[in-house]
Amino acid sequence: MDFTFDLNALFPERVSVLDNNLTAGRKAPGRPDPQIQIATVIDELGKASAKAQQLPAPITSAAKLQANRHHLYLLKDGEQNGGRAVVVGFLKVGCKKLFLLDQQGAHVETEPLCVLDFYIKETLQRHGYGLELFDFMLKHKQVEPGQMAYDRPSAKFLSFLDKHYDLKNSVPQVNNFVVFSGFFKSRSAAQLRKVPPKKPEGEIKPYSLMERDVVRKEQRSLPLPFVRPAAPPPSPPLLLSSPQSRSLSVGSSPSHGPLRPTALPGLQPRPSLSSQLNENCREKRTSSLNRFRLSFH
Ligand code: COA
Repeated sequence: MDFTFDLNALFPERVSVLDNNLTAGRKAPGRPDPQIQIATVIDELGKASAKAQQLPAPITSAAKLQANRHHLYLLKDGEQNGGRAVVVGFLKVGCKKLFLLDQQGAHVETEPLCVLDFYIKETLQRHGYGLELFDFMLKHKQVEPGQMAYDRPSAKFLSFLDKHYDLKNSVPQVNNFVVFSGFFKSRSAAQLRKVPPKKPEGEIKPYSLMERDVVRKEQRSLPLPFVRPAAPPPSPPLLLSSPQSRSLSVGSSPSHGPLRPTALPGLQPRPSLSSQLNENCREKRTSSLNRFRLSFH
């Protein structure tokens, strides 16, 4: 994916980590505001990813990134396009509060780091770029793949997780998220809050409304003349009866991928990756709450 502007100037690193500030480097004097160009790149990537996954609308855009506490990892190849670089792809992650079913079918409330969107340019797929990006994110977040939840992963992504991280056995859910058998084992009871089967005010809905659902809802709620035909599901349905899910979920036995290196050079090892991950999510909430409080002083 190439643009008319110099991507090497916009994204100094091979992998840039973008958040709601939409910045990857310092603003050079006399150059246009990099935020506008970065927003253009993110919007184009979001559209390409949606097209690749046959989604009715992008789930990644600059506006959505600015409005959420997500991280977007952007991979470039700095040598291409006459030294102006090309964007190879991106990976978007963020913490989500989810109601999941454990292996016994009990509802648990948790807030894992989730893969929300992942895209490598079509002509560059199967060249190891996805792995490079995913490994970078794992080190940056100090998390293991089995501790994460995956928002409606495509068949390609499921194959990727199986091949590179030995993630095979998913635990069936009633929402769009996929977690693997190690997910519940690696978390302490304190991090997974069991949800009582019924609340006095009504039934608990063990799903969360996510960007992909919102995109579909927005489509559905268009006035009649503008209603578009329903798009095919972006990834195989996660029903036990589908061949795809059978291979993933029936007869699951615990399976753990090889332990990935998780400590970034110079960083102190943490006591437990899973507790650190949950702390990450909590820390973010606390700091945003503090910022909110400060703005009212
Ligand atoms: N068909 C089936 N499996 C594929 C695939 C394809 N077209 N492309 C990648 N994979 C999986 C395979 O397991 C493959 O190993 P193999 O070539 O030995 O079969 C492995 O990924 C290759 O790993 P890598 O080269 O590191 O992955 P990548 O750079 O191709 O990135 C994706 C993986 C999923 C990000 C990329 O294929 C992609 O962007 N797909 C389209 C968008 C998408 O489905 N995103 C997932 C959102 S939920």
